[in-house]
Amino acid sequence: MTKTKIDVTLSATRKEKPKSDQLEFGRVFTDHMFVMDYSPAKGWHDPKIVPYEPITLSPASMVFHYGQTVFEGLKAYRTKEDKVLLFRPEKNMERLNLSNDRLCIPRIDGEFVIEALKQLVSIEKDWIPTAEGTSLYIRPFIIPTEYYLGVAPSKFYRFMIILSPVGSYYKEGIHPVKIYVENHYVRAVEGGTGKAKTGGNYASSLRAQEEAAQKGYSQVLWLDGVEKKYIEEVGSMNIFFKINGEVVTPEVNGSILEGVTRKSILELLKSWETPVSERKISMEEVYQAYKDGQLEEAFGTGTAAVISPIGEFLYDDNKIVINNGETGELSKKLYDTLTGIQKGTKQDPFNWVTEV
Ligand code: COI
Repeated sequence: MTKTKIDVTLSATRKEKPKSDQLEFGRVFTDHMFVMDYSPAKGWHDPKIVPYEPITLSPASMVFHYGQTVFEGLKAYRTKEDKVLLFRPEKNMERLNLSNDRLCIPRIDGEFVIEALKQLVSIEKDWIPTAEGTSLYIRPFIIPTEYYLGVAPSKFYRFMIILSPVGSYYKEGIHPVKIYVENHYVRAVEGGTGKAKTGGNYASSLRAQEEAAQKGYSQVLWLDGVEKKYIEEVGSMNIFFKINGEVVTPEVNGSILEGVTRKSILELLKSWETPVSERKISMEEVYQAYKDGQLEEAFGTGTAAVISPIGEFLYDDNKIVINNGETGELSKKLYDTLTGIQKGTKQDPFNWVTEV
């Protein structure tokens, strides 16, 4: 696959680009997309960059029925020197293949896909916004395309990459978000699909998110699916707490998504020699730390969310207000360092960025 040529068909027209300071998350798409198909006879084949357009599928196509889908999310940034940078794309490809394994989808050649992605992003370079807090969000995804209503892995698939210039994921922007600690619904259990980036995990989170939104909270914090005691993740981001000088994040356990930003933050904190641990942490422990005056900060991490400070939790009927609802010092330092590396304004001692 690695030697395969990518066919390019450029669009005859160009869409108007949105203003950089008015961008929402994931509403606008660029002029081109990458497409590649899979069949048992040919494997992954026919990679091409084509104009962004609707696709036609039979209503019997398996994508519409049993949710055998996977996706990724990463970002491209344009530097002041007009270079285009990607942040750790190889990690997204590794995770995509882990999701593929879980969902019985054939693995992709990560190196080849990164080459294809670089080609697509260079064609769309002018779509990369440069205003503070903006970037070009990259959404690779795979859908099953066989026409069949039996419950079985599809024999045919389509892999696509679409691009979207984005601003902040949350309407709060860089201001702290309010999170509802979910005590009824659960997201995932050990042995389930919690670790995979698959549509079903997000579909099953919507009910809880709607109910939390009605109470005025941006997102829900998921607890473990068995005892509803230990903290897992927020669904669109992993979570970190700073308690009495130590940074704690739930350990990965098979039901939490292993975020690339999560991993990067752990590596950054270790390089600063900040005490940090990945371990089981219960919501009761966080509440106790709050009552003892030791809960200093909380923040979420994710590609879309970047570093998102958390100003408040609602835990049963208890409001936990952190740092007076203001962004904490560590969250700010992590945000500045990470986005600085991603945008090429800060040194990249870890070799995380790849130039397109
Ligand atoms: C990302 O951070 O890229 C994600 O996939 C979260 C998404 C569900 C918006």
